[in-house]
Amino acid sequence: MYSEKVMDHFANPRNVGVIEDADGVGEVGNPVCGDVMKITIKVAEDRIEDIKFQTLGCGAAIATSSIVTEMAKGMTLEEAVAITKQQVADELGGLPPAKMHCSVLATDGLKRAVDDYLVKHGREPIGGPIVSDDPHFDPHEDDGEV
Ligand code: FES
Repeated sequence: MYSEKVMDHFANPRNVGVIEDADGVGEVGNPVCGDVMKITIKVAEDRIEDIKFQTLGCGAAIATSSIVTEMAKGMTLEEAVAITKQQVADELGGLPPAKMHCSVLATDGLKRAVDDYLVKHGREPIGGPIVSDDPHFDPHEDDGEV
């Protein structure tokens, strides 16, 4: 059911923890299943220099959080907020359709962390809407690109 890469990132998640002197913090929760995640980032010259996550959630939420930290490290802020849940799933070698929604937590957490950094520096947020905040967000619906 799960790819080897999903199992690997679930069993050995990368970049776990909290950056104490983080430049940006993003916290999101899935309103239906109650899973929560927190992403902290260090930013240098508008690039993600370091990133860590803590996820209290299902295996897919942990694996997607882990892979998104690997993908985002070294990216510009614009590149990081443009990561889609489909790209996250593809990077993991696929996710079962019923688990696609779990990857939204990771992309939303990252967007929120980037926007937290920008707003703290008096700049405009670029992350766009946080999908898991949407009251109509259906975690069981695979609605394609987010
Ligand atoms: Fe809640 Fe996966 S079941 S994020």
